[in-house]
Amino acid sequence: MKIVVFSGAGMSAESGISTFRDNNGLWANFKIEEVATPHAWSNNPEMVQSFYNQRRKQIIESSPNEAHKLIKELEKIGDVTVVTQNIDDLHERAGSKHVVHLHGNIREAKSSGPNQEARYYPIDGWELKMGDLCEDGFQLRPHVVWFGEAVPNLEVASNLITAASVLIVIGTSLQVYPAAGLIHSAARNCTKFLIDPNADQLQIPSDFIVLNETASEGMLQCLGLLKEKSGLS
Ligand SMILES: NC(=O)c1ccc[n+]([C@@H]2O[C@H](COP(=O)([O-])OP(=O)(O)OC[C@H]3O[C@@H](n4cnc5c(N)ncnc54)[C@H](O)[C@@H]3O)[C@@H](O)[C@H]2O)c1
Repeated sequence: MKIVVFSGAGMSAESGISTFRDNNGLWANFKIEEVATPHAWSNNPEMVQSFYNQRRKQIIESSPNEAHKLIKELEKIGDVTVVTQNIDDLHERAGSKHVVHLHGNIREAKSSGPNQEARYYPIDGWELKMGDLCEDGFQLRPHVVWFGEAVPNLEVASNLITAASVLIVIGTSLQVYPAAGLIHSAARNCTKFLIDPNADQLQIPSDFIVLNETASEGMLQCLGLLKEKSGLS
């Protein structure tokens, strides 16, 4: 069974990391265009760097939640790849073997010069400082895909979802494109789940099994159904 998990910010909510559209989260204190666009970086790189340093610090201090652990457990019943929109590394820290980051990985840095995707550098600790230079001489910036930038792993993700026999979409409002469009790459005979406490408000194709639950509760139910399907329950 080829299983693809497609996760978004809600996946990490139970780890204490705010989702994108939370009213009271840290993100709510910033305007997207002030921190997550190439224009923001050219306008005020210190502010952008500091914003991502704070996010990185919070992520390092967080731990994978029950849902991340249940996704690791899926590996007992199939070939699992996680395609995540998240920039945190909680899937990896829960032990998931194959994780594709669509929007980058905040624990890594890259060049702010013309060859940004040439190489990603692990960041030691939480802070990337202004003056920390890449080997090409340009300032290092977070390895995060900003609004208006290309998504380098889009095709890889689309191919994985097309080949999946099970797709689990979890904790995403499906409003950030082009990532959100990926759910339409799934085959007709793929078994599709949507797990989100606001699932009933999301627009998704009618062949999805909808679990109107938090990530941990929804994953528990989903894992039960998949174990049943594969004769393991
Ligand atoms: N942890 C992170 O790395 C992080 C955090 C915030 C935003 N972002 C990025 O910002 C963009 C926002 O798009 P998005 O669709 O991922 O996020 P979003 O904030 O637009 O949507 C989050 C979704 O999660 C759901 N949710 C809330 N609590 C949940 C829970 N306990 N369990 C399951 N679902 C829950 C909400 O109902 C909502 O549908 C993405 O690129 C995202 O990865 C990343």
